[in-house]
Amino acid sequence: MTAVATPIRFDSARAGSDAECEARIVAARKRLGDRAVILGHHYQRAEVYKHAELTGDSLKLSRLAAQTEAEFIVFCGVHFMAEVADVLSKPHQKAILPDLSAGCSMADMANLRAVERAWRELAEVLDPDETITPVTYINSAADLKAFCGEHGGIVCTSSNATNILQWAFGRREKVLFFPDQHLGRWTAHQMGVPAEACAVWDFDEPMGGLSPEQIRKARVLLWKGHCSVHQMFQGSHIEQFRAKHPGGTVISHPECSFEVCAASDLVGSTEFILNAIHAAEPGSHWLVGTELNLVNRLAEEMKPQGVTVQFMSPMVCMCSTMARIDPQHLAWCLEQLADGHIVNQIVVPESEAKLARLALDRMLAVS
Ligand code: 13P
Ligand code: SF4
Repeated sequence: MTAVATPIRFDSARAGSDAECEARIVAARKRLGDRAVILGHHYQRAEVYKHAELTGDSLKLSRLAAQTEAEFIVFCGVHFMAEVADVLSKPHQKAILPDLSAGCSMADMANLRAVERAWRELAEVLDPDETITPVTYINSAADLKAFCGEHGGIVCTSSNATNILQWAFGRREKVLFFPDQHLGRWTAHQMGVPAEACAVWDFDEPMGGLSPEQIRKARVLLWKGHCSVHQMFQGSHIEQFRAKHPGGTVISHPECSFEVCAASDLVGSTEFILNAIHAAEPGSHWLVGTELNLVNRLAEEMKPQGVTVQFMSPMVCMCSTMARIDPQHLAWCLEQLADGHIVNQIVVPESEAKLARLALDRMLAVS
Protein backbone atom coordinates (compact mmCIF):
# COMPACT_ATOMS: atom_id res chain seq x y z
CA MET A 1 0.00 0.00 0.00
CA THR A 2 1.36 3.46 -0.90
CA ALA A 3 1.50 5.95 1.94
CA VAL A 4 -0.26 9.22 1.12
CA ALA A 5 1.02 12.35 2.85
CA THR A 6 -1.78 14.15 4.69
CA PRO A 7 -1.72 17.90 4.03
CA ILE A 8 -1.05 19.91 7.16
CA ARG A 9 -4.08 22.03 7.96
CA PHE A 10 -4.72 24.95 10.23
CA ASP A 11 -6.43 23.80 13.43
CA SER A 12 -8.70 26.53 14.79
CA ALA A 13 -9.03 24.73 18.15
CA ARG A 14 -5.29 25.28 18.69
CA ALA A 15 -5.08 28.72 17.12
CA GLY A 16 -4.29 30.74 20.28
CA SER A 17 -5.11 34.29 21.32
CA ASP A 18 -3.97 37.39 19.41
CA ALA A 19 -1.35 38.08 22.10
CA GLU A 20 0.06 34.53 21.92
CA CYS A 21 0.12 34.70 18.14
CA GLU A 22 1.98 38.00 18.19
CA ALA A 23 4.88 36.37 20.04
CA ARG A 24 4.72 33.26 17.82
CA ILE A 25 4.82 35.39 14.64
CA VAL A 26 7.90 37.26 15.87
CA ALA A 27 9.67 34.02 16.86
CA ALA A 28 8.86 32.13 13.63
CA ARG A 29 9.76 35.15 11.51
CA LYS A 30 13.17 35.27 13.23
CA ARG A 31 13.76 31.57 12.54
CA LEU A 32 13.00 32.06 8.85
CA GLY A 33 15.41 34.99 8.45
CA ASP A 34 16.16 35.91 4.81
CA ARG A 35 14.25 32.89 3.55
CA ALA A 36 10.91 34.70 3.90
CA VAL A 37 9.40 38.08 3.18
CA ILE A 38 5.97 39.19 4.38
CA LEU A 39 3.97 41.33 1.93
CA GLY A 40 0.86 43.12 3.19
CA HIS A 41 -1.93 44.88 1.33
CA HIS A 42 -3.16 48.16 2.85
CA TYR A 43 -6.53 46.56 3.77
CA GLN A 44 -4.97 44.09 6.19
CA ARG A 45 -6.07 44.34 9.79
CA ALA A 46 -3.69 46.15 12.15
CA GLU A 47 -2.47 43.03 13.98
CA VAL A 48 -1.32 41.55 10.67
CA TYR A 49 -0.26 44.72 8.83
CA LYS A 50 2.31 45.54 11.53
CA HIS A 51 4.24 42.38 10.56
CA ALA A 52 4.36 43.19 6.84
CA GLU A 53 7.85 44.13 5.70
CA LEU A 54 6.63 45.38 2.34
CA THR A 55 3.27 47.09 1.89
CA GLY A 56 1.46 48.61 -1.06
CA ASP A 57 -1.42 48.65 -3.50
CA SER A 58 -1.79 45.85 -6.03
CA LEU A 59 0.64 47.36 -8.54
CA LYS A 60 3.36 48.07 -6.00
CA LEU A 61 2.99 44.63 -4.42
CA SER A 62 3.22 42.95 -7.85
CA ARG A 63 6.48 44.79 -8.52
CA LEU A 64 7.82 43.95 -5.07
CA ALA A 65 6.91 40.28 -5.48
CA ALA A 66 8.79 40.22 -8.79
CA GLN A 67 11.87 41.82 -7.21
CA THR A 68 12.26 39.89 -3.96
CA GLU A 69 14.75 37.03 -3.72
CA ALA A 70 13.21 35.35 -0.65
CA GLU A 71 12.26 31.69 -0.95
CA PHE A 72 8.85 32.23 0.69
CA ILE A 73 6.68 35.18 -0.31
CA VAL A 74 4.10 35.21 2.46
CA PHE A 75 1.22 37.23 1.07
CA CYS A 76 -1.10 38.92 3.54
CA GLY A 77 -3.73 39.83 1.00
CA VAL A 78 -6.15 37.87 -1.15
CA HIS A 79 -5.88 34.90 -3.50
CA PHE A 80 -5.36 36.76 -6.80
CA MET A 81 -2.46 38.70 -5.25
CA ALA A 82 -0.67 35.49 -4.22
CA GLU A 83 -1.28 34.12 -7.73
CA VAL A 84 0.37 37.20 -9.23
CA ALA A 85 3.31 36.73 -6.84
CA ASP A 86 3.64 33.11 -8.00
CA VAL A 87 3.47 34.07 -11.68
CA LEU A 88 6.00 36.92 -11.42
CA SER A 89 8.48 35.30 -9.02
CA LYS A 90 11.33 32.96 -9.90
CA PRO A 91 10.88 29.17 -10.10
CA HIS A 92 12.57 28.48 -6.73
CA GLN A 93 10.26 30.92 -4.90
CA LYS A 94 6.96 29.98 -3.31
CA ALA A 95 3.93 32.21 -2.83
CA ILE A 96 2.12 31.46 0.43
CA LEU A 97 -1.39 32.66 1.35
CA PRO A 98 -1.86 32.24 5.14
CA ASP A 99 -5.59 31.44 4.74
CA LEU A 100 -6.60 29.79 1.47
CA SER A 101 -10.16 31.09 1.80
CA ALA A 102 -9.03 34.72 1.44
CA GLY A 103 -10.56 35.38 -1.98
CA CYS A 104 -12.06 38.48 -3.60
CA SER A 105 -15.80 38.52 -4.24
CA MET A 106 -15.34 40.87 -7.17
CA ALA A 107 -12.75 38.59 -8.80
CA ASP A 108 -15.29 35.75 -8.50
CA MET A 109 -17.78 37.70 -10.63
CA ALA A 110 -15.88 36.76 -13.79
CA ASN A 111 -14.69 33.29 -14.70
CA LEU A 112 -13.02 31.81 -17.76
CA ARG A 113 -16.14 29.98 -18.98
CA ALA A 114 -18.21 33.18 -18.95
CA VAL A 115 -15.47 35.28 -20.59
CA GLU A 116 -14.91 32.65 -23.30
CA ARG A 117 -18.66 32.56 -23.88
CA ALA A 118 -18.69 36.35 -24.21
CA TRP A 119 -15.85 36.16 -26.75
CA ARG A 120 -17.75 33.55 -28.78
CA GLU A 121 -20.94 35.59 -28.67
CA LEU A 122 -19.10 38.75 -29.70
CA ALA A 123 -17.69 36.79 -32.64
CA GLU A 124 -21.26 36.53 -33.98
CA VAL A 125 -21.23 40.33 -34.47
CA LEU A 126 -17.58 41.19 -35.17
CA ASP A 127 -14.09 39.64 -35.11
CA PRO A 128 -13.07 40.11 -31.46
CA ASP A 129 -9.40 39.23 -32.04
CA GLU A 130 -9.20 42.06 -34.59
CA THR A 131 -11.39 44.65 -32.88
CA ILE A 132 -11.38 44.12 -29.08
CA THR A 133 -8.54 44.27 -26.54
CA PRO A 134 -9.47 42.25 -23.45
CA VAL A 135 -8.38 44.06 -20.29
CA THR A 136 -8.63 42.35 -16.94
CA TYR A 137 -8.43 44.15 -13.64
CA ILE A 138 -5.73 42.51 -11.52
CA ASN A 139 -8.59 41.44 -9.21
CA SER A 140 -9.22 38.34 -11.29
CA ALA A 141 -8.14 34.71 -11.44
CA ALA A 142 -4.90 33.75 -13.21
CA ASP A 143 -6.78 31.97 -16.02
CA LEU A 144 -8.42 35.28 -16.98
CA LYS A 145 -5.03 36.96 -17.08
CA ALA A 146 -3.92 34.07 -19.30
CA PHE A 147 -6.95 34.69 -21.54
CA CYS A 148 -5.80 38.30 -21.94
CA GLY A 149 -2.24 37.17 -22.63
CA GLU A 150 -3.46 34.83 -25.35
CA HIS A 151 -5.81 37.35 -27.00
CA GLY A 152 -3.43 40.34 -27.21
CA GLY A 153 -4.78 41.79 -23.97
CA ILE A 154 -3.38 43.12 -20.76
CA VAL A 155 -3.87 43.43 -16.98
CA CYS A 156 -4.52 46.73 -15.19
CA THR A 157 -4.68 47.90 -11.60
CA SER A 158 -6.45 50.85 -10.03
CA SER A 159 -3.27 52.91 -10.31
CA ASN A 160 -2.44 52.38 -13.98
CA ALA A 161 -5.86 51.86 -15.61
CA THR A 162 -5.70 55.04 -17.75
CA ASN A 163 -2.31 54.16 -19.24
CA ILE A 164 -3.47 50.63 -19.83
CA LEU A 165 -6.67 51.67 -21.63
CA GLN A 166 -4.60 54.03 -23.78
CA TRP A 167 -2.36 51.07 -24.67
CA ALA A 168 -5.44 48.93 -25.38
CA PHE A 169 -7.05 51.54 -27.66
CA GLY A 170 -3.73 51.96 -29.44
CA ARG A 171 -4.08 48.37 -30.63
CA ARG A 172 -7.77 47.79 -31.26
CA GLU A 173 -10.84 50.01 -31.45
CA LYS A 174 -12.75 48.44 -28.52
CA VAL A 175 -12.06 47.14 -25.02
CA LEU A 176 -13.74 44.35 -23.09
CA PHE A 177 -13.08 45.28 -19.46
CA PHE A 178 -13.63 42.78 -16.63
CA PRO A 179 -14.61 42.20 -13.89
CA ASP A 180 -15.14 45.70 -12.37
CA GLN A 181 -17.58 47.84 -14.32
CA HIS A 182 -16.93 50.85 -12.05
CA LEU A 183 -13.17 51.02 -12.58
CA GLY A 184 -13.75 50.53 -16.31
CA ARG A 185 -16.41 53.23 -16.51
CA TRP A 186 -14.45 55.77 -14.48
CA THR A 187 -11.28 55.18 -16.48
CA ALA A 188 -13.10 55.46 -19.79
CA HIS A 189 -14.63 58.74 -18.57
CA GLN A 190 -11.17 60.02 -17.57
CA MET A 191 -10.02 59.33 -21.09
CA GLY A 192 -12.91 61.25 -22.61
CA VAL A 193 -14.90 58.23 -23.79
CA PRO A 194 -18.57 59.37 -23.70
CA ALA A 195 -21.01 57.47 -21.49
CA GLU A 196 -23.02 56.39 -24.58
CA ALA A 197 -19.94 54.57 -25.87
CA CYS A 198 -19.82 52.34 -22.75
CA ALA A 199 -22.17 49.34 -22.60
CA VAL A 200 -22.62 46.93 -19.69
CA TRP A 201 -22.06 43.28 -20.56
CA ASP A 202 -24.49 41.30 -18.39
CA PHE A 203 -22.86 37.86 -18.23
CA ASP A 204 -26.15 36.27 -17.12
CA GLU A 205 -27.86 37.25 -20.39
CA PRO A 206 -27.32 35.86 -23.91
CA MET A 207 -25.12 38.30 -25.88
CA GLY A 208 -24.51 40.17 -22.62
CA GLY A 209 -28.06 41.51 -22.91
CA LEU A 210 -26.97 43.73 -25.82
CA SER A 211 -28.19 44.02 -29.40
CA PRO A 212 -25.70 43.65 -32.29
CA GLU A 213 -26.15 47.38 -32.89
CA GLN A 214 -25.24 48.22 -29.26
CA ILE A 215 -22.17 45.98 -29.48
CA ARG A 216 -21.02 47.63 -32.73
CA LYS A 217 -21.52 51.11 -31.25
CA ALA A 218 -19.76 50.45 -27.93
CA ARG A 219 -16.11 51.38 -27.46
CA VAL A 220 -15.94 49.86 -23.97
CA LEU A 221 -17.84 46.75 -22.93
CA LEU A 222 -18.03 46.74 -19.14
CA TRP A 223 -18.41 43.40 -17.38
CA LYS A 224 -21.25 43.61 -14.87
CA GLY A 225 -19.06 43.08 -11.80
CA HIS A 226 -18.49 45.23 -8.74
CA CYS A 227 -16.91 45.31 -5.30
CA SER A 228 -19.41 44.66 -2.53
CA VAL A 229 -17.42 46.88 -0.14
CA HIS A 230 -17.09 49.93 -2.41
CA GLN A 231 -20.70 49.78 -3.61
CA MET A 232 -21.77 50.80 -0.09
CA PHE A 233 -20.54 54.37 -0.57
CA GLN A 234 -23.07 56.87 -1.88
CA GLY A 235 -23.21 60.42 -3.19
CA SER A 236 -25.43 61.39 -0.24
CA HIS A 237 -22.56 60.53 2.17
CA ILE A 238 -20.40 63.05 0.32
CA GLU A 239 -23.13 65.72 0.43
CA GLN A 240 -23.46 65.31 4.22
CA PHE A 241 -19.70 65.64 4.69
CA ARG A 242 -19.49 68.74 2.46
CA ALA A 243 -22.32 70.41 4.38
CA LYS A 244 -20.35 69.94 7.61
CA HIS A 245 -16.83 70.56 6.24
CA PRO A 246 -17.11 72.84 3.17
CA GLY A 247 -13.31 73.04 2.89
CA GLY A 248 -12.81 69.29 3.37
CA THR A 249 -11.42 66.86 0.81
CA VAL A 250 -13.18 63.74 -0.48
CA ILE A 251 -10.95 60.94 -1.74
CA SER A 252 -12.24 57.66 -3.18
CA HIS A 253 -11.08 54.41 -4.69
CA PRO A 254 -12.10 53.96 -8.37
CA GLU A 255 -14.03 50.79 -7.45
CA CYS A 256 -16.70 53.19 -6.09
CA SER A 257 -19.69 54.00 -8.28
CA PHE A 258 -19.40 56.66 -10.98
CA GLU A 259 -21.60 58.97 -8.88
CA VAL A 260 -19.16 58.75 -5.93
CA CYS A 261 -16.02 59.12 -8.08
CA ALA A 262 -17.50 62.12 -9.90
CA ALA A 263 -18.41 63.82 -6.60
CA SER A 264 -14.93 63.20 -5.10
CA ASP A 265 -12.01 65.62 -5.21
CA LEU A 266 -9.48 62.88 -5.70
CA VAL A 267 -9.78 59.30 -6.99
CA GLY A 268 -7.02 56.71 -6.84
CA SER A 269 -5.57 53.45 -5.60
CA THR A 270 -5.02 52.56 -1.95
CA GLU A 271 -1.38 53.70 -2.20
CA PHE A 272 -2.52 57.00 -3.75
CA ILE A 273 -5.04 57.50 -0.93
CA LEU A 274 -2.42 56.71 1.70
CA ASN A 275 0.13 59.12 0.20
CA ALA A 276 -2.43 61.92 -0.23
CA ILE A 277 -3.56 61.70 3.39
CA HIS A 278 -0.01 61.40 4.72
CA ALA A 279 0.70 64.70 2.94
CA ALA A 280 -2.47 66.39 4.31
CA GLU A 281 -2.32 69.92 5.74
CA PRO A 282 -2.52 69.95 9.56
CA GLY A 283 -6.09 70.57 10.68
CA SER A 284 -7.65 69.42 7.38
CA HIS A 285 -10.74 67.19 7.08
CA TRP A 286 -10.91 64.13 4.84
CA LEU A 287 -13.71 61.80 3.80
CA VAL A 288 -12.43 58.50 2.45
CA GLY A 289 -14.28 56.00 0.25
CA THR A 290 -12.33 52.80 0.68
CA GLU A 291 -12.02 49.83 3.03
CA LEU A 292 -12.33 50.41 6.77
CA ASN A 293 -9.02 48.98 8.02
CA LEU A 294 -7.03 51.40 5.85
CA VAL A 295 -9.23 54.36 6.82
CA ASN A 296 -8.99 53.56 10.55
CA ARG A 297 -5.20 53.24 10.32
CA LEU A 298 -4.90 56.59 8.52
CA ALA A 299 -7.24 58.23 11.06
CA GLU A 300 -5.00 57.07 13.92
CA GLU A 301 -1.76 58.02 12.16
CA MET A 302 -2.98 61.53 11.33
CA LYS A 303 -4.51 62.39 14.73
CA PRO A 304 -1.31 64.02 16.07
CA GLN A 305 -1.36 66.51 13.14
CA GLY A 306 -5.00 67.37 13.84
CA VAL A 307 -6.07 65.85 10.51
CA THR A 308 -9.50 64.20 10.70
CA VAL A 309 -10.02 61.18 8.50
CA GLN A 310 -13.61 59.97 8.23
CA PHE A 311 -14.92 56.74 6.71
CA MET A 312 -17.43 57.46 3.94
CA SER A 313 -20.28 55.17 4.99
CA PRO A 314 -22.25 55.23 8.25
CA MET A 315 -22.29 51.41 7.93
CA VAL A 316 -19.28 49.28 8.79
CA CYS A 317 -18.05 47.82 5.50
CA MET A 318 -14.89 45.82 5.75
CA CYS A 319 -13.46 43.48 3.17
CA SER A 320 -14.36 40.22 4.90
CA THR A 321 -12.04 38.17 2.72
CA MET A 322 -8.99 40.36 3.39
CA ALA A 323 -9.87 40.00 7.08
CA ARG A 324 -9.48 36.23 6.88
CA ILE A 325 -5.75 36.70 7.23
CA ASP A 326 -5.57 36.90 11.00
CA PRO A 327 -2.65 36.59 13.44
CA GLN A 328 -3.62 32.95 14.05
CA HIS A 329 -3.20 31.93 10.40
CA LEU A 330 -0.06 34.03 10.00
CA ALA A 331 1.57 32.49 13.10
CA TRP A 332 0.61 28.98 12.00
CA CYS A 333 1.91 29.33 8.47
CA LEU A 334 5.21 30.97 9.48
CA GLU A 335 5.81 28.22 12.06
CA GLN A 336 5.10 25.50 9.51
CA LEU A 337 7.49 27.09 7.01
CA ALA A 338 10.18 27.45 9.68
CA ASP A 339 9.68 23.74 10.54
CA GLY A 340 10.21 22.80 6.89
CA HIS A 341 6.54 22.18 5.98
CA ILE A 342 5.36 24.09 2.96
CA VAL A 343 1.73 24.97 3.64
CA ASN A 344 -0.83 27.01 1.69
CA GLN A 345 1.36 27.40 -1.38
CA ILE A 346 -0.39 29.04 -4.34
CA VAL A 347 0.73 27.47 -7.60
CA VAL A 348 -0.50 28.62 -11.00
CA PRO A 349 -0.01 25.78 -13.56
CA GLU A 350 2.85 26.68 -15.93
CA SER A 351 0.72 26.59 -19.11
CA GLU A 352 -1.55 29.23 -17.55
CA ALA A 353 1.26 31.11 -15.82
CA LYS A 354 3.11 31.60 -19.13
CA LEU A 355 0.19 33.45 -20.72
CA ALA A 356 -0.75 35.30 -17.52
CA ARG A 357 2.89 36.47 -17.29
CA LEU A 358 2.64 37.83 -20.82
CA ALA A 359 -0.37 39.99 -19.86
CA LEU A 360 1.26 41.06 -16.56
CA ASP A 361 4.58 41.87 -18.24
CA ARG A 362 2.72 44.03 -20.78
CA MET A 363 1.16 45.86 -17.84
CA LEU A 364 4.47 46.35 -16.01
CA ALA A 365 6.08 47.66 -19.21
CA VAL A 366 3.25 50.16 -19.77
CA SER A 367 2.92 51.43 -16.18
P1 13P B 1 -5.44 48.69 -4.88
O1 13P B 1 -4.67 48.14 -6.04
O2 13P B 1 -5.80 50.12 -5.02
O3 13P B 1 -4.71 48.41 -3.61
O4 13P B 1 -6.85 47.96 -4.83
C1 13P B 1 -7.01 46.62 -4.52
C2 13P B 1 -8.37 46.32 -4.10
O5 13P B 1 -8.77 45.19 -4.06
C3 13P B 1 -9.24 47.42 -3.78
O6 13P B 1 -10.46 46.92 -3.37
FE1 SF4 C 1 -12.05 42.37 -3.64
FE2 SF4 C 1 -13.55 44.46 -2.88
FE3 SF4 C 1 -12.11 43.11 -1.08
FE4 SF4 C 1 -10.90 44.68 -2.88
S1 SF4 C 1 -12.29 45.31 -1.24
S2 SF4 C 1 -10.28 42.61 -2.29
S3 SF4 C 1 -12.24 44.33 -4.67
S4 SF4 C 1 -13.85 42.31 -2.31
